[in-house]
Parts: sequence; C-alpha cells; structure tokens
Amino acid sequence: MTQKVNDLIEQAQQQFAQATDAASLENAKARFLGKQGSLTEMMKGLAKLDADAKREEGARINQIKQQIEALLNARRAALAQAQLEARLAAETIDVTLPGRGMGAGGIHPVIRTWQRVEEIFKSIGFDVADGPEIENDWTNFTALNNPENHPARSMQDTFYVDMKDDNGLPLLLRTHTSPMQVRYARMNKPPIKVIAPGRTYRVDSDATHSPMFHQVEGLWIDENISFADLKGVYTDFLRCFFETDDLELRFRPSFFPFTEPSAEIDMMFTSGPNKGRWLEISGSGQVHPDVVRNFGLDPERYIGFAFGSGLERLTMLRYGVNDLRQFFEGDLRFLRQFND
Ligand code: DAH
Repeated sequence: MTQKVNDLIEQAQQQFAQATDAASLENAKARFLGKQGSLTEMMKGLAKLDADAKREEGARINQIKQQIEALLNARRAALAQAQLEARLAAETIDVTLPGRGMGAGGIHPVIRTWQRVEEIFKSIGFDVADGPEIENDWTNFTALNNPENHPARSMQDTFYVDMKDDNGLPLLLRTHTSPMQVRYARMNKPPIKVIAPGRTYRVDSDATHSPMFHQVEGLWIDENISFADLKGVYTDFLRCFFETDDLELRFRPSFFPFTEPSAEIDMMFTSGPNKGRWLEISGSGQVHPDVVRNFGLDPERYIGFAFGSGLERLTMLRYGVNDLRQFFEGDLRFLRQFND
C-alpha cells in the first residue's frame, strides 16, 4: 500500500512537472483529484471497509490528497512565476542605457559660412536675396547668355523637372545661383548691390562635387562699376571671412557666357598652414552687355560685375576639411566639431 501511495505521489509530481502551461496542469490535476481521478477512486474503496479501517484509511487518503494538492500548488506557482519572468524578459528595459537627453542642436558648418557671408556683405551695403531652387530654363540659361545647345543644358549635368512653368518654360533644379542676378535685377532699380546665397544642383558626385551644393552669387551694377571694385570688394570679403590680412588674390582669365571679360579668382594665404598655394575660390566677371539687356537695363549706361562662389569650398578652406561629402553624411562626430 505504501509503495502504491508513493508511486501515486511520484506520478503526480512527474505529470505536474511535465505540464508546461496552466491548461495541461489542470488536465493532470483531473487525473488525480478529479471526479474520476485516482484519489477519488481510492475514496470510493472506503465504503467497503469497517469503521476503524475507514477512519484510518480515510485519514491516509486525505494526507495523500494534501500532498498532491501541495505539489499542484507549487507547480501552479512555478508556472506563474515562469510566465511572469518570460514577460519581464520580453518587455525588458535596460536601465543602464544612457538617456537620450536634450542635446542642443548646432549650426551646420556650411550654414555657418552662409551666415558669415551674409553678415560680411551686409556690412558693406549689399542686400541679401533669395529665390527659387526650381528655376525655368530661360532664367537659368538663356537670359545668362547660355546658348541653346550649350552642354550645361543637357541631361548630364542638370536635373530637369517633369513640368513646365506658367509660361510653358521647362523647369529644372537651378544649376547655379546666377539666375538670381536676372530675377533681382529685373525687380530692382540700379544701383544694384546684392548677394544671393542658396542651394544649387548638378548631376555630379565625388570627393569635391555633390549633386546638391551651395553657392553665393554677387552682383553690383551701377553707372561705373569696374573690375577694380570687384577686386576691392572680393579681397575685403576674403580677409574678413578668413580673419586674416595675409592673403592675396589673382584674377585668371576664364570663360563664362554671362560675363565678358571673365575671370577665375584664385587666392593665396601668405601665412599659416596653407601658405604659398594658389587656391581657386570663385568665378567672376564683368556682366555681359546682353545679360545687362536681359536685366531690362541699357548696357550703354549700366555696367558692373558678378561673382559666384561655392560655400562648401569656402567652408573647406576655412576649416581644413578635405572631403566635401562629409558635409552631407550627417555624422555627428564630424558636425560636433563646428559647435562647441
Ligand atoms: N555660375 C557660375 C558657375 O556656377 C559661377 C559664376 C562665374 C558666377 C562667374 C558669376 C560669374 O556670377 O560672374 O559655375
């Protein structure tokens, strides 16, 4: 009998242990404590016994029942605990992770250059203008003397937009800020003295070219503005921008359809780490008479200069950055260095 009882308890223990969820545990419980369970069967057997034996056997069965119930409760608790632990593990929060914090934003180095350029030109009486990045091809090319079949118009270096403007002109992402010369000059009376910084686009991508980049356009038109004024303004600008008087400029003959004569402006630091090397910094020139006419002005009376400089280029020289792509990768390790 004792052996049988031990077997029964052992069986219960095993079957409870095998139950891995509440439902199968309740099924296992039924096999022992249910209406047709082993213990109930044993109880039924009591009927056949006399009073003394019944009491004794009854007490024994009750004891077994209590033991089995204790095993059941222990297993129930273990399963509930396991379930809780699984849930906690699934919803785990790593409290050791550093918080996100309220990190202050910073100014992008190219935008910092943009702001500096505006400040410097404003301080010498230039207006600051802003215009559309989606431009029509008359303003971007034709008005600037870019012949109809000029390669700059081709699909290779220009992003065309699949739409036309209200006048039926093809639209494109402006390839330079020079169309702002036309827009501004047609809306303002001379003397015109303006810069127009902004985003520009070309199908171009390598260490020194990005499909989106920034330029600043400059235009000064009046009755007798000469190359000497350009040289004076641009030299002052660069000295302010780089915070040094130790730099020289040279004008190298070049070609742009909208200027005649045209020049590439090179600069050279005469002290510091970049000393002694000529660096190309800007396109420039005296505005072509045809372009002055497209401004709606008489080229016999009005004359002036224009320049177009890359803001990335200025930024790279100022901070010693040698790969332009770093400006557009959004890597905080790079960007943080410009904001402390
Ligand atoms: N628009 C020219 C370019 O993107 C740069 C330029 C050259 C602008 C000469 C000017 C200029 O205003 O006079 O390459």
